[in-house]
Amino acid sequence: MKKAALLGILVLAVCFAACNSESGSATGASNSDSPYAAQVDSLLSIMTLEEKIGQMNQYNGFWNVTGPVPAGDEAANKKYEHLKKGWVGSMLNVRGVENVRAVQKIAVEESRLGIPLIIGFDVIHGYKTLSPIPLAESASWDLEAISNSAKVAAAESAASGINWTFAPMVDIGRDPRWGRVMEGAGEDPYLGSLIAAARVKGFQGDDLSDPFTIAACTKHFAGYGFAEGGKDYNTADFGTSTLYNMVLPPFKATVDADVKTFMNSFNVLNGIPATGDQFLQREVLKGKWNFQGFVVSDWGSIGEMIAHGYAEDGKHAAELAANAGSDMDMESYLYVEHLAELVRNGRVDETYITDAARRILTVKYELGLFEDPYRYCDEAREQETIGKAEHQEAVLDMAKKSIVLLKNDNNLLPLKKSGQRIAVIGQFANDKNSPLGSWRIAADDNTAVTLLEGLAAYPDNSITYAEGAAVTVGENSFVMEAAINEDDKSGFAEARRVARAADVVIMNLGEVGWQSGEGRSRVNIDLPGVQQELLEAVYEVNPNIVLVLQNGRPLALPWADENIPAIVEAWQLGTQSGNAIAQVLYGDYNPSGKMPMTTPRDKGQIPIYYNHKSTGRPVIPAPNLVFWSHYMDESNAPLYPFGHGLSYTTFQYEGLAVNANGDGTFKVSFTLTNTGAIKGKEVAQLYIQDVAASVTRPVRELKGFQMVELAPGASQEISFTLTDTELGFYDNDGEFVVEDGLYRVFIGGSSATEYSAEFTR
Ligand code: NOJ
Repeated sequence: MKKAALLGILVLAVCFAACNSESGSATGASNSDSPYAAQVDSLLSIMTLEEKIGQMNQYNGFWNVTGPVPAGDEAANKKYEHLKKGWVGSMLNVRGVENVRAVQKIAVEESRLGIPLIIGFDVIHGYKTLSPIPLAESASWDLEAISNSAKVAAAESAASGINWTFAPMVDIGRDPRWGRVMEGAGEDPYLGSLIAAARVKGFQGDDLSDPFTIAACTKHFAGYGFAEGGKDYNTADFGTSTLYNMVLPPFKATVDADVKTFMNSFNVLNGIPATGDQFLQREVLKGKWNFQGFVVSDWGSIGEMIAHGYAEDGKHAAELAANAGSDMDMESYLYVEHLAELVRNGRVDETYITDAARRILTVKYELGLFEDPYRYCDEAREQETIGKAEHQEAVLDMAKKSIVLLKNDNNLLPLKKSGQRIAVIGQFANDKNSPLGSWRIAADDNTAVTLLEGLAAYPDNSITYAEGAAVTVGENSFVMEAAINEDDKSGFAEARRVARAADVVIMNLGEVGWQSGEGRSRVNIDLPGVQQELLEAVYEVNPNIVLVLQNGRPLALPWADENIPAIVEAWQLGTQSGNAIAQVLYGDYNPSGKMPMTTPRDKGQIPIYYNHKSTGRPVIPAPNLVFWSHYMDESNAPLYPFGHGLSYTTFQYEGLAVNANGDGTFKVSFTLTNTGAIKGKEVAQLYIQDVAASVTRPVRELKGFQMVELAPGASQEISFTLTDTELGFYDNDGEFVVEDGLYRVFIGGSSATEYSAEFTR
């Protein structure tokens, strides 16, 4: 009887899929294309409703899983009982082969059907060996390196028992106050889409059942990066043009890259909590995009729909989330508590439950967990893999590529390798923790190479160090201990003393690792504490300063830009931080990074992003006239535009031409020359503007880039082909359209380039 019903549903699901072969089904039901469809269906046919709902339930790690369940710990006992009943489909934050094996054993050996767990973890920028924070990696514009970094992270975490990461975060970030800009790829949907796909490829590889790969999870669907005021978890409210053209493309790119899972988000978007949003999850993701994987909620986000004022209680929240297409409940306990009853009362259709379980089981099959639930549990592999030399090299390579040279007057950089007296000032130069960032939950504290350690590899210069001023933000990552030093300047005198006696001063200033990331928004995006005063005090005695910034978001530092001759954006670069910075400062790596986010001059300019719309009054009509779109007390220009980044050499762009290929595509060509004295890499960028469109288009949009390495004096002809994909856009119904008319192309080394040509489609 059950089987017959199930078959009926299957037929329905297949029919939905067939009727919508191009774009998935109207209700977003999974289809049966998977090579594991028969196995999954046969398993589903013997599962009880509660067991299917069990697959949709994800718990956080609970007790010291290798020991007995602690008596009296009600929550732990409940989770343990649920595991034994087959009511848990996944666990997160259980790591290490021994621990993963212990929980897997309960699921496999003690539950009725022995369905293995999928083990999730936030592998955000590495596991134990950390690469740069994702925003920093994105500054490399190097898709291969980014993919390789994810591959290293996958290998280490998979060796530690994990088979699913909650990454990549693909939220567009336009607001540097938002602490999570560190976790994304910045403000641009084109670059963001390519990076998102590269990360998925790196995590998942070509074969998910390879025990060195893990399933990826695209998050947070959708709009989370548009939190009002940059305050984490806040409401997002934007129109359809922004949704289709800015927010959704990186998500779609990961579906095209075959990402296995999605996570929805904490925010409300246009009045609907994303977790309960049918339009996003069923219509767009599972329907139009035909996504076949599963959607996990964010932590407790199903329950948070009550606080949002969308659900009356937990039961109602479970109903809304399940109907909207959230397949797995992360830690709100609401599916396991209410879904069975909701199905029996007809509030949730059982087809949705079966569909969710099918999606989850399919990914487990793809991971090879049914073949061997302990596939990721090999102590010898764990020992060999984690922290191995090859991984250290990979993250060092990534870290060097992530550094952006923001300013370099009079070629102060690279530093001479001998005969220099160098003063190093600032606590970060000696901080082994901050370069690890805030998403380093598997890495051991204090394991980053500091800048002082990195500089020690160049022994023919003398180094003197002074802390100058300390900025500390507690040791505990989850508790806000506001210990920012706002008044202690007792270290200034020593800093000035060492600076006075130096040929060059390196000041390593910025944010503590815990000042960005989840729940870590800042209203100020300057140097915390007394660091700005320290910078100015040192400048008074020796202006020959290289400012090395270490931070999780773009910082607005107009005084530094005006006065300090050399500025290096060194983010939070992970385990090999100090070595990477030292190699760049000494020119053993010629910097090639480009900013993936606009840096404001002042926080009052936020949101500031390069691909904005024009206004009706974009330029001053006459001297001193106020009636145009501007601020009276600050320029409209950013401090550093999107795409900005210098090299120790210089590049020239010339000979720009656009020619119709005769098949509806256009060839954009130009010559790039290295006009400096050393070899260097340039990210040549192409932007377009659709000059007049049925829905107004941004003043320019990135549509291509190429990384070119040139010897001094060498030239290369570079070309791009513009097809409908680059020229089109989504209209306000979400349909992709390409319109005839005038287009402008811009070529150059940043989004501020004015080197342009026009063509007509
Ligand atoms: C909440 C975060 O928003 C999400 O990105 C993360 O993956 C989960 N917690 C799990 O740790």
